[in-house]
Formats: sequence, C-alpha cells, structure tokens
Amino acid sequence: APDIPIANVKAHLAQLQSIATANGGNRAHGQPGFRASLDYVKARLDAAGYQTTIQSFTASGATGYNLIADWPGGDANQVLMTGAHLDGVRAGAGINDNGSGSAAVLETALAVARSGYRPAKHLRFGWWGAEELGLIGSNRYVASLPAAERTKIKGYLNYDMIGSPNPGYFVYDGDNSDGVGSGPGPAGSAEIERTINGYFSGIGVPTRGTDFDGRSDYGPFIRAGIPAGGTFTGAEGRKTAAQVQLWGGQSGVAFDRCYHGSCDSSSNINDTALDRNSDSIAHAVWTLAGGA
Ligand code: PHE
Ligand code: CA
Ligand code: ZN
Ligand code: ZN
Ligand code: ZN
Repeated sequence: APDIPIANVKAHLAQLQSIATANGGNRAHGQPGFRASLDYVKARLDAAGYQTTIQSFTASGATGYNLIADWPGGDANQVLMTGAHLDGVRAGAGINDNGSGSAAVLETALAVARSGYRPAKHLRFGWWGAEELGLIGSNRYVASLPAAERTKIKGYLNYDMIGSPNPGYFVYDGDNSDGVGSGPGPAGSAEIERTINGYFSGIGVPTRGTDFDGRSDYGPFIRAGIPAGGTFTGAEGRKTAAQVQLWGGQSGVAFDRCYHGSCDSSSNINDTALDRNSDSIAHAVWTLAGGA
C-alpha cells in the first residue's frame, strides 16, 4: 500500500475549516457548511474518476445527504466499503470529529486513483450525513440496500476521530478479545481487526481494543451482519497513566478536550496520529481488497 501523504490530508482539513468559517462556523446537518463539505469531497472524487452518487434523506425537518463513490472495476459481487461521517455538531468546525476521518478516507480514495492499483474486490467509499443526530445517514444507506446488494458488501471500514490531540491508538474490538462491552462482531470483523493491528505492529505502535458497540457509523453495518472495523484516537475519555506509558501524551487529560466543542478547529489535530491512521487505512484497503 502507498504512504498516504499527510500534507494532502491536512490540505483537505484546511479546506473543511475554511468551509466552516465561511458558513457560520460549522458543518452540521441541515446547515450550509455540510452541503459545501459534501460538494468539496465530491468534486475531488469526480475529478479523479470516481462514480459518485448523492443519497438524500430527511432528518429533523432538514435534508441530509450521503455521498457514495465507486471506483470502477473489481468483483462487483465482493465489495469493500470504507467510510466516515462528514457532518459535525453545531458548536464548531468539526475538524477532528470528523474532518479527520473524512479527509483521510478521501485521500485514500485519491491514492487508489493515482496508483494504478487493480483491486480484486470492488472498492466503494462513503461519507455519511447526520451521524451526530444518531447515525442517521449510515442507517438510511444500509436500510436502502436491497438484500442482494447488502450481502455483496464483504467488509466496512469506519474512521471517526483519528487525529485526537492527546491520542490513543484504538482499534474496534471486532473479536471482543478484551471481553468488555458488546460481543464479537459479524464473522470477518476479527480479520479486519487483525489486518489493522498488523499495520500498527509493523510501525512499532501498540494498539488497544475499543468498544465495538455501535457508537459510530459501523453500527448499522454490523447490525446487518456485515463485518466491520476501523480505528479511533479517543473522544471525551481521559488518558490514563498506563495509556501514557504506552503512547505518551498527558495523563488525566481527555483524548480530545475539544470534543463537540467550539475549539474543534484546525489546531485540534495531532499530526502524527493522523498520519499513522491515514496510512493504516491504505494498508487495510489494499490488504483486504486484494489484487495488485
Ligand atoms: N461517534 C462519536 C461522535 O461522532 C465519536 C466516537 C467515535 C465514539 C468512535 C466512539 C468511537 O461523536
Ligand atoms: Ca504518511
Ligand atoms: Zn461527534
Ligand atoms: Zn464522530
Ligand atoms: Zn479484539
């Protein structure tokens, strides 16, 4: 898998910050900053050769949108999907939550287009609307799929908050190996978790499992029996002393002190965490989709 240039990911984040600033300071569902964010991502994908589709829905009296992008080719009966929610809360620009996942998934999609890679599986990418209202966009997407289309999706990779300023390196615990929280995900979730962990062990960064309980857009996928996984660098929880031994950073301080706050802006990103997680997305896509 290629190295994902962190400079490109950060350039997308700068654009999302500008979009928020020009649209009342946020990128929330029903607000102009959300639609402008969607148009930004779509334009880059269209220019790179993706087939893009906008799925509209209504939530809380406002129109929301999902953006779906298909890379032509691969086995149409075996789809690997990768996604991130593009909306934020009203309080701020939503740069770590979830400009970070949105930008890294976008840059991974663009890397596919640049690389000459011929994946064995068909690659699909998704940017969800109205996650912050309760996973609305991803729920509507999964619900809209005919059963035959749903079974074609062999895996879903989710990225929500991957550049937290006081980061942890968490991987969704698809096999429930820690025995904490909900049970194992659909068969295949364990392989996704192993693949992601393989990337981090290769760069010498320890990871820990995190609840696979549906607190982000993989929830509707696992409830539909689709294997899923992904990474997360932490939200409102505080980093423990033991976690500081593993990863450095500040003990007793939230992974993201600006979670759902007005300070979730361009400066609310740890570049090293964003870089490592972005590279892990490319590793997971290339490994799980197969081909060369
Ligand atoms: N989905 C939560 C939000 O957007 C954040 C979160 C992501 C929590 C991943 C846990 C795991 O606010
Ligand atoms: Ca990189
Ligand atoms: Zn959020
Ligand atoms: Zn989020
Ligand atoms: Zn696990």
